[in-house]
Amino acid sequence: MDEFQAIEPRHAAEHELWDQLDHGSLPQHIAIIMDGNGRWAAQRGLPRIAGHREGLGALQDVMDVGYELNIPYLTIYAFSQENWNRPATEIRLLMALLEQYLEKERQRFHDRHVRFLPIGRLEQLPGPARALVAEVAEETSHYSTRTMAVALSYGGRAEIIDAVQQLAVEVQMGSLTPDQIDEALFEQYLTTWGLPDPDLLIRTSGETRISNFLPWQIAYTELYFTRTLWPDFRRAETLLALLDYQKRERRYGRVPQSVSS
Ligand code: IPE
Ligand code: IPE
Ligand code: MG
Repeated sequence: MDEFQAIEPRHAAEHELWDQLDHGSLPQHIAIIMDGNGRWAAQRGLPRIAGHREGLGALQDVMDVGYELNIPYLTIYAFSQENWNRPATEIRLLMALLEQYLEKERQRFHDRHVRFLPIGRLEQLPGPARALVAEVAEETSHYSTRTMAVALSYGGRAEIIDAVQQLAVEVQMGSLTPDQIDEALFEQYLTTWGLPDPDLLIRTSGETRISNFLPWQIAYTELYFTRTLWPDFRRAETLLALLDYQKRERRYGRVPQSVSS
């Protein structure tokens, strides 16, 4: 199957979900921990990479829905710092898949005016992948209406430490005093600077943990966990997550709306 095919006509069940959506209260930023590719493949007696490849189809579906709904920010966890501990062959295949994905996807980024924003310790990526990532980031950097951030060799704690080191240098040089460091300033030193915090974080595959993904940024994010394995997380599943999000009341420490009004 071609996971990069054009947007499919909506199925009947999907239509019903679509009709239930409140277009006025959609998340502006969705973050996704795409998990369960290996298990999806194992269930079919296939090598793990087959699950990763099928996962690209799910990514395409989620991106299409986000595009159709005008959701401006999507951040996906593609490869974590901890994933370097996987077997060398799986890492090699994942990097090759990343390159194939970017080669195929770059034209669509232009067609849809999507800024591709890689985040993480990109210098740790192998040369060819690193070069292509930098190229696509550069050539799409002027698009401002939609951003797809892709976490590659990303670790949330590492990101915070990198920020702290830069701040410490500034203090040492005298260009900053300790009392000037507040949340707004700190965020400027994170790789996600300029992106609003995610409204919704989705993790597939039944694991209910964060795995070092955006720990600073998700302090007040709504979390959505589903048992669905990532390659099976398609259009209808995306809409179900959005509908679940729309049932939440984001109180930020306040009393419920029903009490205050
Ligand atoms: C997520 O799927 C993709 C990456 C981490 C790159 P996994 O490869 O973690 O799949 P499972 O969790 O082993 O099923
Ligand atoms: C998190 O999934 C990383 C990505 C999805 C890229 P993992 O499968 O690596 O996380 P753990 O090992 O279950 O925490
Ligand atoms: Mg996993």
